[in-house]
Amino acid sequence: MKEIIISGGKSLSGRIEPSGSKNAALPIIFATIAAPGISYISNVSDIGDTAVAVKILECFGAKVKRVGNITEINTENLEYVLPSRELTRKIRASSYLIGACLARFGKFHLSEFGGCSFCNRPIDMHLYAAEKLGAEYNRGEISAKKLVGAKIDFEKQSVGATINSLIMATAAEGETVLFGVAKEPHVRAFVEFLVSAGADITENEDSFIVKKSNLHGGSVKVIPDMIEAGTYLLLGPMTEGSVTVTGAAALELESFLEPLSLSGVSVSYDGEDITLSGTPKRPISIKTAPHPGYPTDLQPQIAPLMAKYFGGRIEECVWQNRFSYLDSLMCFGVMSERNTERALIRPSIIHSSTAAAPDLRGGAALAICALAARGESKIKNADMILRGYSDFESKLKSLGANIKLYDNSANEESTACLNNPNKTKEV
Ligand code: UD1
Repeated sequence: MKEIIISGGKSLSGRIEPSGSKNAALPIIFATIAAPGISYISNVSDIGDTAVAVKILECFGAKVKRVGNITEINTENLEYVLPSRELTRKIRASSYLIGACLARFGKFHLSEFGGCSFCNRPIDMHLYAAEKLGAEYNRGEISAKKLVGAKIDFEKQSVGATINSLIMATAAEGETVLFGVAKEPHVRAFVEFLVSAGADITENEDSFIVKKSNLHGGSVKVIPDMIEAGTYLLLGPMTEGSVTVTGAAALELESFLEPLSLSGVSVSYDGEDITLSGTPKRPISIKTAPHPGYPTDLQPQIAPLMAKYFGGRIEECVWQNRFSYLDSLMCFGVMSERNTERALIRPSIIHSSTAAAPDLRGGAALAICALAARGESKIKNADMILRGYSDFESKLKSLGANIKLYDNSANEESTACLNNPNKTKEV
């Protein structure tokens, strides 16, 4: 496990260029299973989650290599296997195997899908879509002799179910119409990849129309990570510095920037760059929602800023009870009250501390506290943060932070990739 030591209390300023979006890259990597051939994906971020995704693909026989900034994935000759639970439970995005394997092999044995465990993360909508397209669920296996196009109407917006349905629909006879879909920037970036791989997809206001097509290798540049951009921008007001994120104007961060601007933080645009400086002059209020609402993945990171100044209110409308990270923030002095949907952050005195990252974005919130607090702080379980933030240490150093990442995992075992419901295969 890795640890981060931060000597905080310094004012941080500078420019950050965000890496490729984790939530765009991961479904693209998994969708290459359904697109036989060579795909060229540029700007894949070098983070823990993408490394695990590549390992899972290699279990199926995919050949993956990195040439400069381009990740080449050859999925011409794949064989159906069930990657080990040890791998699939590391990342939530392994649930995209449902759509990718149904489209390519007509079956998938449900595994344990991982990711941040801030609350129960169901997959009923993914399975509902698969069944609408003709798949059947039996004893842990979902399979279809043939997928057939259908009208699918989602009751709520789910990024994961939308993406899995898009992959399955490309292999379904005729036409599939998906209503009530998620339209996050990473969903649209994913559609761009599918289209480059031969998919026939029309986008309407709240629907996608997908016609069956024979997919082949595609090529796409992964969009910059809006969550990474937002996380670094918060360090400007949090440390009384000034942080610029290059290219941020294109990242559809309006719902994130608006409450900051309303609270008195200075938000300035210079071409495609955005700078946050100044400090809040009043409490901040946010309410998370599917895009274009305030992103749930930037909810934990704003809590320290609320606490350091005038407090604030958080309403979480995507996940029930995405507040367990507040227990860890308490170690840094952040005072709060909460129920499952709402949290009240009290004005607090943030101090240095030691705490373990509870999950990816909760871990980022701890780092934000540590950077603002005078004295030395330690964040244990930092692998959680590195799952989603590439070059975390060097990017923060470039802003003037005093931070050091220690790797205590030299003697830990490597992850095995094996196991097949029909025959055991070691990769
Ligand atoms: C969600 C976010 C995504 C973020 C990710 C990690 C939205 C719409 N999605 O994506 O931007 O990167 O969390 O924090 O903001 N649900 C079901 N059944 C399902 C699938 C989902 O009830 O089968 C519910 C979830 O419980 C949740 C909501 O739908 O309340 C959104 O889930 P979904 O978008 O699927 O989650 P992620 O794909 O992980």
